[in-house]
Amino acid sequence: MVNKIRKAVFPAAGLGTRFLPATKASPKEMLALVDKPLIQYVVEESVASGIESILIITGRDKSAIENHFDISFEMEQMLIERGKTEMFEQIRAISDIARISYTRQKQALGLGHAIYQAKDFVGSEPFAALLADDIVDSEKPALQQMVEVYEKYNAPVIATMQVAGEDISRFGVIDADEVEPNVFKIKDMVEKPAYAEAPSDLAIIGRYIFTPDIFEAIEQTKPGSGGEIQITDAMRILLKKRPFYAVKLEGTRHDAGDKLGFLIATVELALKRADLGKEFREYLKGLNLR
Ligand code: G1P
Repeated sequence: MVNKIRKAVFPAAGLGTRFLPATKASPKEMLALVDKPLIQYVVEESVASGIESILIITGRDKSAIENHFDISFEMEQMLIERGKTEMFEQIRAISDIARISYTRQKQALGLGHAIYQAKDFVGSEPFAALLADDIVDSEKPALQQMVEVYEKYNAPVIATMQVAGEDISRFGVIDADEVEPNVFKIKDMVEKPAYAEAPSDLAIIGRYIFTPDIFEAIEQTKPGSGGEIQITDAMRILLKKRPFYAVKLEGTRHDAGDKLGFLIATVELALKRADLGKEFREYLKGLNLR
């Protein structure tokens, strides 16, 4: 029997140096695409994929994330008094979205180390891990696409997408065989290889489904790329013991933790909005871009 994926872990302790000065005192996970913080997009994606219980791994100066998923008493009171019922319901829904707990990663020692903080929360169940700066705009939620592959193969699954050219060096990269359309069995993986050494053009995207044996693998992982405990290196250890799969995601992935990626995501998502898209499109058409 395949265990259902009920729990998700959100590493959110990173310092967000790619987005300074905006991230000097505010968490990068709270940067808003149009009107919604990055972390809310990803929490909504996980809930739409069957997740019931969430652990957000935070750090110092990240209390805005906890406040966002809490009840905002004064705001709600004010919206009710002013008769803004629809907005009240939207705001209240954010605090009702899932059971969310928090723990702190006291030092930013890498993604593998961040995920390790979830060991007690996870216990003996398989679980998902999602990175909030990877926003995937897709028909079917990205995590749901992966859950379906997990349920079929009963093995850990990571998300992948093709990345052309030298940009591949900014990712974990897999070496894999396609076993059915868009599903790969992984042979090896490497974190942020030099372009010439990348084993393929298949980049790891920030969505993972792990089995609890990942924690033992993290314990054995030595600091790697950037001197950090990398989750890619931990997965590589586990890969010697069990099959690992990757799903090429349907949809568009935006790197919203990067200034240019964030601008692109803002434009794309704003154009799709029923309340803003039409006027925004008119504005963009009127720009003299030559
Ligand atoms: C992390 C992972 C990397 C993955 C990337 C996806 O890197 O370590 O394997 O390709 O997320 O966004 P980061 O971007 O946190 O340096």
